[in-house]
Amino acid sequence: MKKLPLTLIFTAVLACCLASCGGGQSKIDEIKAKSFKEPADPMANWESNHGVGPIKAFELPATIDQELVSKGQQVYESMCTACHKVEKRFIGPSPKDILKRRTPAWTMNMILNPEEMVQKDPIAKKLLIEYNGSPMANQNLSEEEARAILEYFRSL
Ligand code: HEC
Repeated sequence: MKKLPLTLIFTAVLACCLASCGGGQSKIDEIKAKSFKEPADPMANWESNHGVGPIKAFELPATIDQELVSKGQQVYESMCTACHKVEKRFIGPSPKDILKRRTPAWTMNMILNPEEMVQKDPIAKKLLIEYNGSPMANQNLSEEEARAILEYFRSL
């Protein structure tokens, strides 16, 4: 019975110590959080991001070229549907409405030059992480084929 108060005091001191240590740690975390610079949002300036690769920024004509659409659809169906579905996210993202989040040149560079894109382009880097490191495959398309696919994507 004599020892009980001592144990109690010891426990109380230990609890105090732990509590104050915890407080100290959260202060440090707070300071760290403040000095740590948030990485810039890769989507912040997507409208001026044309990606890295052979395609330079260009404007799409206002009207959709149906002949190009059907050419693009053919290539897409034979080379891309193993990983992409129009109606939903699959191994890669759905290409539907892609031009609401990517520029035409970015999209074509992603098709033609995915290896360099995932190394250098902030949006492509983020995509690779989002898709658990599974990379976009380079299907060795010509620029004409990539352009036709872009026209097909516009029509979706
Ligand atoms: C082996 C699977 C695979 C094949 C085949 C493939 N892709 Fe991809 N694609 C992906 C993955 C995974 C991503 C997302 C991750 C990344 O970019 O690294 C992606 C991303 C993309 C993106 C960017 C989408 C966005 O929302 O920004 C485009 C555009 C694209 N692919 C087009 C194509 C086209 C066109 C073809 C056919 C010529 C094709 N892909 C074939 C797996 C594939």
